[in-house]
Amino acid sequence: MALPPKPKKRPENPCFSSGPCAKRPGWSLQALSAACLGRSHRSKAGRAKLAEVLDRSRAILRLPADWRIGIVPGSDTGAVEMALWSLLGPRGVDVLAWEAFGKGWLADVMQQLRLADLRKFEAPYGQLPDLAAVDFGRDVVFTWNGTTSGVRVPDGAWIPAAHDGLVICDATSAVFAMDLPWDRLDVVSWSWQKALGGEAAHGMLALSPRAVRRIETYQPPWPLPKLFQLAAKGRLNEGLFRGDTINTPSLLAVEDAIDSLRWAESVGGLDGLVARTQANFAALAAWVERTPWVEFLAQVPATRSPTSVCLRIVDPWFLGLDAGRQASVVARIAEGLEKEGAAFDIASYRDAPPGLRIWAGATVEPGNLAALFPWLDWAYAALRAESGAGAVAQS
Ligand SMILES: Cc1ncc(COP(=O)(O)O)c(C=O)c1O
Repeated sequence: MALPPKPKKRPENPCFSSGPCAKRPGWSLQALSAACLGRSHRSKAGRAKLAEVLDRSRAILRLPADWRIGIVPGSDTGAVEMALWSLLGPRGVDVLAWEAFGKGWLADVMQQLRLADLRKFEAPYGQLPDLAAVDFGRDVVFTWNGTTSGVRVPDGAWIPAAHDGLVICDATSAVFAMDLPWDRLDVVSWSWQKALGGEAAHGMLALSPRAVRRIETYQPPWPLPKLFQLAAKGRLNEGLFRGDTINTPSLLAVEDAIDSLRWAESVGGLDGLVARTQANFAALAAWVERTPWVEFLAQVPATRSPTSVCLRIVDPWFLGLDAGRQASVVARIAEGLEKEGAAFDIASYRDAPPGLRIWAGATVEPGNLAALFPWLDWAYAALRAESGAGAVAQS
């Protein structure tokens, strides 16, 4: 069987990383020319920029009017930790973990907060834990889209709209790509560096009125560093949700966030972003379907992430290699395609099973994905042939 020829056409933008994700189509440094640089973030001009991020995010995401939305330090990690440390304690907690980030939140609740009444719901890479077993009379912590396994919750139907505990959701690789059921959630976090291709370092925290009530009626027994403080004198720090950030944000990153939000509006807001993501995912799924050596890591179709698409290699030759050699095959594909300028950052996450991870969110242009597929086919076939295993068997 002949090897596929080396493709001639490279993706115009080879950025397929799952964070920081590709900048929006047409982005250049010029997009930052109106940045409020060298000014105080507390100046009228600086505050207007911060408020613009909050207002545009709220509108695009269709956040309910009675929710608060704020910019916090430490990216998505900062936002999640702030929520865990400020809110958990008064009730038992159910924590769900099925990939690296959920596992990290679980470890923090167990080892740092050391909550006695904790139930863990874990699943291996590729699967979800039993969502039906979660008790919403307790506080619940979960990740909407597991970026490192490409497994998402299928929808919000497993979360009752009326629940006594708080539902805390790390949604960083889901917002601006999937429709979230705000009425079933209480705390939602994300960062700028994911679906809209913004810059890292700043997190977003959205709180339901029930989450605010918890903040105003509960004082955690542990010390809270200034960076985590959502309350002052027993009341919510309302200023934080108007752009009075706890510490100094980068106004360059803020400008970039505004640019990304304006772009999101230009493609039709949330509906447009979801449609672009879904179209990309459909193209990827069609390639997986016709490619005998790959499969989705997510076993159940409804749980397959349309943003951080994680693939495992199912070719018998590859499966016959030991774990170290499998990892080195993946590394060589990723490094080879990077050297060719055809794809950046497509190896699976360091703790995940060896495979490929391709971001397919709205900032990725469909033409770039289409141009990527022949390179993947070529890289794998070339590597396999070089190892003496010959050409890939066609299904
Ligand atoms: C699900 C999830 N949670 C948290 C994080 C950490 O995000 P950040 O580095 O923006 O804090 C990531 C980053 O990839 C993620 O995918």
